[in-house]
Amino acid sequence: MQAGTELRITRPDDWHLHLRDGAMLRTALPYAAELFGRAVIMPNLRPPVRSVQEAAAYRRRILDRLPPGNGFQPLMTLYLTEVTSLQEIRRARQTGWLAAIKLYPQGATTHSEQGVSRVKQIYPVLEALQELGLPLSVHGEINDQDVDIFDREAVFIERVLEPLRRDFPDLKIVLEHVSSRTGVDYVRAAAAGLAASITPHHLLINRNQLLAGGLNPHLYCLPVAKREEDRQAVLRAAVSGDPRFFFGSDSAPHWVVNKEKSGGSAGIFNSPTALPAVVQLFEESGALDSLEAFCSLNGARFYGLPPNQDSLILRKTAEPVRVPDSIGEGETRVKVFQAGGPLFWQVVQGLRPGREVLDRPVPAL
Ligand code: NCD
Ligand code: ZN
Repeated sequence: MQAGTELRITRPDDWHLHLRDGAMLRTALPYAAELFGRAVIMPNLRPPVRSVQEAAAYRRRILDRLPPGNGFQPLMTLYLTEVTSLQEIRRARQTGWLAAIKLYPQGATTHSEQGVSRVKQIYPVLEALQELGLPLSVHGEINDQDVDIFDREAVFIERVLEPLRRDFPDLKIVLEHVSSRTGVDYVRAAAAGLAASITPHHLLINRNQLLAGGLNPHLYCLPVAKREEDRQAVLRAAVSGDPRFFFGSDSAPHWVVNKEKSGGSAGIFNSPTALPAVVQLFEESGALDSLEAFCSLNGARFYGLPPNQDSLILRKTAEPVRVPDSIGEGETRVKVFQAGGPLFWQVVQGLRPGREVLDRPVPAL
């Protein structure tokens, strides 16, 4: 495609996003808020967002950081524990701004210590979710030291997801950040009600980029990047136009000091590059026709929401777009996902007030 070519798409949404809190929220928010209409905000803070009240307060902290004219809508989630009450679920349904309940298998990923280990304990909650039509968002990896880390998605599907779907056939479920051929095939074969979010990094990298030629902790995330055949299966699903697959960046920032150490954290900060990287990959795959479905339509449809009313214009550039290697300084520096190489797509219309306003220094109290 020629430099100068322009592409208009309905404003995209991010159906899986970690915005964190405090200083990291200030760093991460602008990059998502200037671009995406809505985002599903993951609840794995410390302590986790377990009640509607906590979710309302977190939502307020996000909204308070948006400049006037930025209509970004955070769609909140609740962190499911074995003691989440039915009352909380009913409250969640009534808010109108709570998109899903998030299931973390205990210990499977960042800040999942309070997640679920005995799935039977949450059966009453699942029953209620099914009845209320509130989606269950699932981190689909088994946490079992006897299961190889590259197989944890497949084993989760077999041991947890399949039985759960049999017992709750009408429950709406998102298999988050699907990362394997097994996962993609499972979603494809399922009846309506099961969907999957797909990240830019699982579209772009395999485990060689993480592990071969020197360990790269900045490409370490969960589920871990897998074989090339898995990446290709995820890519085929994304570009297929199949409405069950949609964009969820899983942008999950950690300070560089916490990534570059023994026991470094899992998570990739990709908000600044996610959209151009996906556009470029769809272009290279000859699939620009499916781009809007993947980024702007399929997710909204699954969540029962209308697509955004406005749009973005992207332009193919002659020169690579400048991407910062990292943002911030010292202890509060975060690395930006480099998308596997130079990017040649840029948003030229539709960006909302974001970076330039939100990066302002925080006034001392
Ligand atoms: C996420 C995080 O850091 O919160 N990390 C990750 O590697 N994706 C948690 C998650 O979504 O698993
Ligand atoms: Zn995540």
